[in-house]
Amino acid sequence: MHAAVLSSSDTPPAYREHPEPVAADSNEMAVEVLAAGLHHLTRAKATGSHYSSDGVFPLVPGVDGVVRDPDGKLRYAVLDDTKFGTFAERTVIDVRRSVLLPDGIDPVRIAAAMNPGMSSWVALRRRIGFTAGQRVLVIGATGNAGRMAVQIAKLFGAAQVIAAGRDRTRLGELTALGADITCTFDEIERAADVDVVLDYVWGEPAAGAMIPMLTARADRSAPLTWVQIGSMAGPVAPLPSAALRSARLQIVGSGIGSVPARDFITELPQLAAAVSEGRIDVRPRAVPLADITQAWTAAIGDRLVFVP
Ligand SMILES: NC(=O)c1ccc[n+]([C@@H]2O[C@H](COP(=O)([O-])OP(=O)(O)OC[C@H]3O[C@@H](n4cnc5c(N)ncnc54)[C@H](OP(=O)(O)O)[C@@H]3O)[C@@H](O)[C@H]2O)c1
Repeated sequence: MHAAVLSSSDTPPAYREHPEPVAADSNEMAVEVLAAGLHHLTRAKATGSHYSSDGVFPLVPGVDGVVRDPDGKLRYAVLDDTKFGTFAERTVIDVRRSVLLPDGIDPVRIAAAMNPGMSSWVALRRRIGFTAGQRVLVIGATGNAGRMAVQIAKLFGAAQVIAAGRDRTRLGELTALGADITCTFDEIERAADVDVVLDYVWGEPAAGAMIPMLTARADRSAPLTWVQIGSMAGPVAPLPSAALRSARLQIVGSGIGSVPARDFITELPQLAAAVSEGRIDVRPRAVPLADITQAWTAAIGDRLVFVP
């Protein structure tokens, strides 16, 4: 069979012949891969920059995907730390980390949506006590995860969703997806009175937004939960100490580790249903797996989904 094989952290994967994967125990099954997304996590794990990667090569990248099991059923599967990922014609999944998908789903849409969509879905459902009627600010709202966060917050009954980012044109598109207000980072005071921040950016922009936002709050003693989810602007943010004193701010993170894996798995079917029923808009771009060498280094925009 064919797979994308990564031989080092600084060269793109090559599409080539690869030995068949073999299930190691009764929880595992060899499956046919139908579609697998190129997420930030995929690259970070593959190139050794993610906290869960060990930097040992060669490996087949791919952290999740839509697969067909030996009974012909479609599943969405999340792989554990493995050297044999989903960027292959076939891979091995742990059945306990997979969910059955309804008939008629589009594998490419699901493969594109589940990783970015899960970030806000799980943050709001499992990491914090979000309740309908609260107001939500999404920082980094123009990306795949941010666009979905805007829609998911609305789906969960947010009273107001504010979309923040650096690109006014892309921000403008979010109104049609449910954003009540859009703003750039230097207009962040417009989001002063939210209850929850979903932050995909971190780094200087997030740290710089805190004081202007907090000092503009109508009631600084009202709780504000800042959920750190992604770090597109940098892994380190120079947090002003006054931010933690001047308002009732708490900062938490949401991701694998801060939310148990079983909680992620439990939420997967509902997200898959929302995506396949069209309640969440997704922008996938299907690419043949054979073209991975060129696609691996392409700028990330619409979510690339490899189809073996
Ligand atoms: N913890 C979790 O559960 C989880 C799950 C999925 C993803 N994530 C993380 O979430 C983040 C976003 O993922 P994604 O799939 O949405 O990525 P994406 O589609 O590539 O979007 C990236 C977003 O970050 C913005 N951005 C990039 N560099 C920036 C900078 N220097 N300053 C300000 N904004 C910047 C982009 O703005 P422009 O539109 O202006 O370029 C865009 O809004 C990643 O860090 C990813 O690893 C976390």
